[in-house]
Amino acid sequence: MQTLAQTLKQQAVSPALSQLLLTLAQSSVAISQAVRHGALAGVLGATTQENVQGETQKKLDVITNEMLKDALKAESTVRALASEEEDHIVEVGDIGEFLVCFDPLDGSSNIDINSLVGTIFSVLPAPEGEISEQSFLQKGSEQLAAAYVLYGPSTMLALTTGQGVQLFTLNPDSGEYLLTNEAVNIPKDTAEFAINMSNQRFWEAPMQTYIADLLLGKIGPREKSFNMRWIAAMVGDVHRVLSRGGIFTYPTDNKNPDKPYKLRLMYEANPMALLVEQAGGKASTGYQRILDIQPEQIHQRVAVILGSANEVDACLEYHQQDYSGEPEL
Ligand code: F6P
Ligand code: MN
Repeated sequence: MQTLAQTLKQQAVSPALSQLLLTLAQSSVAISQAVRHGALAGVLGATTQENVQGETQKKLDVITNEMLKDALKAESTVRALASEEEDHIVEVGDIGEFLVCFDPLDGSSNIDINSLVGTIFSVLPAPEGEISEQSFLQKGSEQLAAAYVLYGPSTMLALTTGQGVQLFTLNPDSGEYLLTNEAVNIPKDTAEFAINMSNQRFWEAPMQTYIADLLLGKIGPREKSFNMRWIAAMVGDVHRVLSRGGIFTYPTDNKNPDKPYKLRLMYEANPMALLVEQAGGKASTGYQRILDIQPEQIHQRVAVILGSANEVDACLEYHQQDYSGEPEL
């Protein structure tokens, strides 16, 4: 089986980007080991700190963030990084060609229940001159590469360098990622959706109506039965979508008017949107292609609807209708 390094060579990825991706992959192997040791390594549970978004940090959030920061500080190809767990960007070196954004441990509420978690990466080109937060505010379509690592029953890496999506499985004996799917293809149609249903009353009218129609199954306008899944870790839900199709959404809600969206553009939505599009799917906010959003700040959040192309289109049709004359749902 082909290794990650061999695949990057075959794709004619530049030596600098290959070096960076191999460094990120190597760090994820170390994270995978920390995650697997769990309580044995004393890494479970919460810290007393909060991140910039006011969320209590888990010990593993902090540990994995440090592991990635250390690895990238030693990486000559990187100018600066932005992390979900850092208040500000971190400058790394003077000569690198790349900026890296990451969510060091996605789905961290799953840590203490020994369920799926992962790491998400996005690589952007570093502009010439001084680096500031502004340098990171590039559209998702500018990403040079995006990847996630899922720490599941097996550790898997999903990667795109703009040449489709490849899946690699970590051989825990050798510590090497081996190519196990060379061209991921998300089926266009699906009968599976993923949404946190407990927020139903807080959604906008289009999403309320769309999900209500899915729940009606065969007797509803969609004329087919749908099944629901929710892993509560975006990496896990997106991995299912890449593996067998589906629609995943964390839509706009008015539960907390100061926070209408949950997922972060730079660390979650953009890299996942690139992976999904590269695998033949679609990714939108309901009103705009995610990869076309002009970011305004590194920690900004967005609504996300992604997955099987025809199902995302079906959901978007609901967003184009006028609900203003209808009673509040
Ligand atoms: O990073 C945010 C996140 O943990 C995602 O990974 C996941 O999809 C979502 O939040 C889970 O949200 P909830 O807690 O509403 O189920
Ligand atoms: Mn996350």
